[in-house]
Amino acid sequence: MRAVDLIQKKRDGGELTAKELTFLVDGYCDGGIPDYQMSAWAMAVLFRGMTPKETAALTLAMANSGDQVDLAPIAGVKVDKHSTGGVGDKTTLIIAPLVASAGVPVAKMSGRGLGHTGGTIDKLESIAGFQTELSREKFLEQVNELGLSVIGQSGNLAPADKKLYALRDVTATVESIPLIASSVMSKKIAAGADAIVLDVKTGSGAFMKTVEDSEKLAQAMVEIGTQVGRQTAAVISDMDQPLGFAIGNALEVREAIETLQGNGPSDLTELCLTLGAHMVVLGGKAATFAEAKELLQRQLDNGEALKKFKQFVEAQGGNASVADDVALLPQAAEQVEVKAASAGYISAIDAEQLGVAAMLLGAGRATKDATIDYSVGITIRKKVGDPVSEGDTLAVLHTCAQDAAVDDVSAKVRDAYAIAADKPAERPLLLSVVT
Ligand code: URA
Repeated sequence: MRAVDLIQKKRDGGELTAKELTFLVDGYCDGGIPDYQMSAWAMAVLFRGMTPKETAALTLAMANSGDQVDLAPIAGVKVDKHSTGGVGDKTTLIIAPLVASAGVPVAKMSGRGLGHTGGTIDKLESIAGFQTELSREKFLEQVNELGLSVIGQSGNLAPADKKLYALRDVTATVESIPLIASSVMSKKIAAGADAIVLDVKTGSGAFMKTVEDSEKLAQAMVEIGTQVGRQTAAVISDMDQPLGFAIGNALEVREAIETLQGNGPSDLTELCLTLGAHMVVLGGKAATFAEAKELLQRQLDNGEALKKFKQFVEAQGGNASVADDVALLPQAAEQVEVKAASAGYISAIDAEQLGVAAMLLGAGRATKDATIDYSVGITIRKKVGDPVSEGDTLAVLHTCAQDAAVDDVSAKVRDAYAIAADKPAERPLLLSVVT
């Protein structure tokens, strides 16, 4: 087999076999196939697309390229959850203890963030003492005993995807739905879950800017799951503005705790109940979505979800008292208000720009090795549709930075808000479900 023939086949609209795709993936991983051939193939895929069969075969080839986590020692149906990424997305911190409290085991590997705010692992590490590196034995034991553990992703999970993603990033081939779908699903499959719930974000703060593209991506991922025997459901949710009010690591942990206490923002609570309910159904703990959602609402109301969060934090060495007193979380030295320059209604919020602003304050990493300041970030006070008067506070910066830097970030945050004379049409948080 020769790479050039496979590139040509795809260039001319052909369908590659599983054997051919495995040849490409393995060859790229072991260095036999150079970057220039792999990028030519990726560009051919970008223009020609891939059939569902090809997409599933590519996914499996990438999942098989590194460690495969075996969750068989954990009893029950293991359901994983993945978000395609957004600003202020702290859903894992809430959903993991919530569904675990309803009897669905959560054995989750999460990542650190690059750009914008930190990933789930960074957020958890903003709790003093919290350990995200556990041995495999301890990880499995904790899930069996407590029903829940979240740890950092192994460095060798789907290495082919890591290499290919880095190549796509610099060859303008990221925006291919089959390539994105196989990239996401290869990591989920290698992480060992029996079933997967996906939160596909759509809007200004998301990878996919339109609902149509988000639905296509969701369908491609659900199809992969079906083809490889992992039941998969996808929810399309709005990311045209940040989720909840908090952006930044400790600030997001605080909001997650408030949500587990039953005092969370309505959009965040609703999304967590929805994604969690799909997990509960796939995990076999409820017969219908409505029944599952009711069960989870009960777990929030009766304090069981919060109790599970505390046990989880304690089991991984963290200070569980934060769940009773959020003031124990890291707090920034200063709070700076960003005020509205005109009156009207908030017509749009550029979520991505707020994410970048939080990163500039130190909440995220501009480079791989940058360190995060857990305490800093942004809490927004106004969301889309809210009325504002000139001088009202739009958002608060939580910062330890110098004045000049803060001025720049304040301007960025102010610019992220669009204010119009008329109230905008309401955009629903939950746009559709693909199963
Ligand atoms: N996230 C991923 O993991 N892979 C992609 O290709 C795009 C987003």
